[in-house]
Amino acid sequence: MNYKLSDRVHKVKPSFTLQMATIAAEMRAEGLDVINFSVGEPDFNTPEHIISAGKLAMDQGYTKYTAGPGMIEFRQAICEKLKRENGITYDKEDILVSNGEKQSLYTACQALFGAGDKVIVLSPYWVSFPEFVRLADAEPLLVDTIPEHNFEPDFDDIQAKMDPNIKGIIINSPSNPTGGVWGEEAILKLLRIAKENDWTIISDECYERLVYDGKFISTENLNRNYNINATVVTCLSLSKTYAMTGWRIGYTAGPREIIKAMSKLQGQATSCANSIGQKAGIEALSGDQTCVEEMKTAFKKRRDLIVQLLNDIPNVTCQTPGGAFYAFPDFSYFLNKAVNGKILKDTFDISEHILHTASVVTVPGDGFGAPGHIRFSYATNTSIIKKGIERIRSALENIT
Ligand SMILES: Cc1ncc(COP(=O)(O)O)c(C=O)c1O
Repeated sequence: MNYKLSDRVHKVKPSFTLQMATIAAEMRAEGLDVINFSVGEPDFNTPEHIISAGKLAMDQGYTKYTAGPGMIEFRQAICEKLKRENGITYDKEDILVSNGEKQSLYTACQALFGAGDKVIVLSPYWVSFPEFVRLADAEPLLVDTIPEHNFEPDFDDIQAKMDPNIKGIIINSPSNPTGGVWGEEAILKLLRIAKENDWTIISDECYERLVYDGKFISTENLNRNYNINATVVTCLSLSKTYAMTGWRIGYTAGPREIIKAMSKLQGQATSCANSIGQKAGIEALSGDQTCVEEMKTAFKKRRDLIVQLLNDIPNVTCQTPGGAFYAFPDFSYFLNKAVNGKILKDTFDISEHILHTASVVTVPGDGFGAPGHIRFSYATNTSIIKKGIERIRSALENIT
């Protein structure tokens, strides 16, 4: 065989959160009792009424290609949802349905950025953000956040890194990996900076329905209410809200010209999103929302439990995350300490020690641009949370 892979393949990093999930599956296959805190999806099944809508769609013959930007009735249901829940009015021409929000975000970056452009990514970041930017031949520009302020942007760092080549910024509140939920003041400030500098904001709001203490703020809603007039592209997903990760349905709402450009690119990549998922999506968005509240109540209980248990471990500190389903405790006390003759130089080493000693899978914060932190997904039941954290507590005792 004589072939050479493209430079693109070499410049992009594989998704290491998926790698952690693979390690967990392999250890389980070897018969080990593995506890997995690396999962980025709800452990609940898709609610029954949504599954029934999917089955009915197949029986009724909705098994063909749909309109490229998405079924008209699904885009209408999305517009109604955005108006009802997010307070923003769109027409169906302003909506693009994709095979999961990951495709929405990828396509938005492809449509908006190119060689020579810089795009701000706030650190800690979801692992895919810098890669989406690199795949568009642009350069991610990492900007700090303030952990004590719900991981809101460090505006001094933004000012220090101002550059005429910055074309956009990707934001994510509630955040993966931190669980941080930004307040109105920070979003408003960012909108004003974006407007002043002609940056496009890509706002990833996939955890919009998982906010436990305050209330969720839609970036575009603020943009309109305060007449700021910044360019905002909102990307949303059915994956987390309705436990529909495998159905692969996400969507984008934004300025019509951007949506058209994204639609053109997506049309040549995947034609359209999965037809059965779109029909089920209509039921998800328009049907009974009790399931969303039930899942949220369960997540909140688990959040309170895991935060308390993590804080009970000596030398570990964990803030209470306001949303999503991740805790992001600080393990930096253990850095440069030794275990079994090996120095733990970063959180990859700490996570590896926990994996091999306690058979618990966690995700090292270094991979999210957050040295010292480790991400725990609490999308798992309370008895597993208790057992897993107890095992970690023991594994940390032999670090000196
Ligand atoms: C922050 C964030 N954005 C987007 C996604 C993508 O969601 P999906 O492609 O399943 O809609 C995820 C999934 O883990 C995520 O955590």
